[in-house]
Amino acid sequence: MDIAIVTGASGGIGAAIAKLIHERSEGQLTLCLHYNGNAVAAQALSDSIPNSFIVKADLATAEGRQALRDAVLAKGTPFALINNAGIDKPHEPALMISEEGFDKLVATNLKAPLFLMRDFAKEMARNESGVIVNISSVLARKAVVGSAVYRATKAALEALTQQFASEIGPKGVRVVAVAPGFIETAMTKDIPEEQRAGIKKDVALGAFGAPEAIAETVWHAIENQYLNGAVIAVDGGMAL
Ligand SMILES: NC(=O)c1ccc[n+]([C@@H]2O[C@H](COP(=O)([O-])OP(=O)(O)OC[C@H]3O[C@@H](n4cnc5c(N)ncnc54)[C@H](OP(=O)(O)O)[C@@H]3O)[C@@H](O)[C@H]2O)c1
Repeated sequence: MDIAIVTGASGGIGAAIAKLIHERSEGQLTLCLHYNGNAVAAQALSDSIPNSFIVKADLATAEGRQALRDAVLAKGTPFALINNAGIDKPHEPALMISEEGFDKLVATNLKAPLFLMRDFAKEMARNESGVIVNISSVLARKAVVGSAVYRATKAALEALTQQFASEIGPKGVRVVAVAPGFIETAMTKDIPEEQRAGIKKDVALGAFGAPEAIAETVWHAIENQYLNGAVIAVDGGMAL
């Protein structure tokens, strides 16, 4: 069976991506729903998607990444990898950046998608078929106080997207990045009202987006056979 792996499917954007892949593939793709701490959300999502299974793994560790890879290969053939799991904290102003915060953000947002991409792309290349979608951020191109390291991880992920697209495109595997703006999920729910108003002023469409808007673009990346190495912004016009 062909498998679509969604990392961080227990989160807002990941859950929307998993649901849409199930719907649009008309059940042809089996969903691997990855989570780390939120077993309740992952199980509830799996209950709503008949051909799915859940895998718990801390992707910031080599053991966690290996566990995810083993679980997928035990079930079938990886066809799509959506590198969506990520964190945006700690928020540390430039002069307060800590080594601990740096290591945490880099391990989760950069090291994890890089090595998952390397390992699953090897399997996809064997079959000369597959697609990887990396979830970046508008902040890869925009300075927001406290987001220096987050920004760096996402900018590096976009560079890796282009590098992998160039190197593994000839092997039949496409790699695309989707860069969301501010989206209504657990990640943004605690932003104070005053700060939200300031952010909205920066968005041409004047609002935060819905997770489904990101899912639509991820599905487009999966379907469009000529899309490779692109970074697609879905940010309501924030990075302009
Ligand atoms: N929301 C936004 O405004 C926004 C904007 C731009 C980009 N993004 C990006 O979109 C992606 C999804 O964000 P979201 O808004 O859906 O956030 P979210 O609701 O907080 O979900 C984050 C997901 O990442 C998982 N995760 C966190 N640390 C992990 C680790 N060490 N190992 C494995 N999984 C881990 C979480 O798993 P558990 O909950 O199970 O622990 C959860 O499923 C992230 O890459 C984020 O940077 C979000």
